[in-house]
Amino acid sequence: MPYQVIIPAAGQGKRMGAGKNKLLVELNDIPLLIHTLRVFEQDEECTGIILAIHPQDMYEFEALLKKHKIMKVENIVFGGKERQHSIYNALKTVVGGGVILVHDAARPFIKKEHIHRLVDAATKSGAAIIGVPAKDTMKKVLDGKVLETIERSSLWAVQTPQAFRMSTLLKAYELAERENFLGTDDASLVERLSIPIMMVEGDYDNIKLTTQEDLFFAEAILKKYT
Ligand code: CTP
Ligand code: MG
Repeated sequence: MPYQVIIPAAGQGKRMGAGKNKLLVELNDIPLLIHTLRVFEQDEECTGIILAIHPQDMYEFEALLKKHKIMKVENIVFGGKERQHSIYNALKTVVGGGVILVHDAARPFIKKEHIHRLVDAATKSGAAIIGVPAKDTMKKVLDGKVLETIERSSLWAVQTPQAFRMSTLLKAYELAERENFLGTDDASLVERLSIPIMMVEGDYDNIKLTTQEDLFFAEAILKKYT
């Protein structure tokens, strides 16, 4: 099933502490941004990429797209203060309906097979997200004191991509904007419309590179596949 994808890349990568946007950090001599974009460039079902970037990265990112022959980027928009603002800026420029994905530029290890399962689920039901069952025992803690243990079998760690019918995602973002709601993922905005969201099981390789330590995990994951 065809889809378009919004890729938020407009952060600053502060926790990575690389002295530049973490998306410019290289793995196997290729910037993280390009690793992620290549997945969609090489997926025949992906019909277009909308990229949100920080103005300070514009020249460098545009040069990288050219150098690595990323041809599917249809539009580049400037991001906002928070991830949600960046995505909304991108969303407002998307042309056409169908299924739209949102995928963090900082998750380079998403597999085509999982994208397709997600798109199929969203095409059928309207909204679907990818995640993995929690491995650790989870407890609710307040001020350093354990309040309770949360039944693990119902807990999932949520990743991106997240997939929605275009009209649904737009409605969710408009409502969040009107009500000043800031969520930590896209689904939390859609949940406020009381629309059912399907969970698709992905895998633990689909990490988000956040801190320096994640670069070591990333090297290990890359080794598995090269
Ligand atoms: N992002 C964005 N616009 C923002 C903030 C984040 O488009 N205002 C993007 C990032 O570029 C990244 C994704 O959202 O691809 C997930 O964000 P995160 O991992 O937090 O990246 P950064 O915000 O760049 O990192 P940090 O929070 O450590 O500064
Ligand atoms: Mg951030």
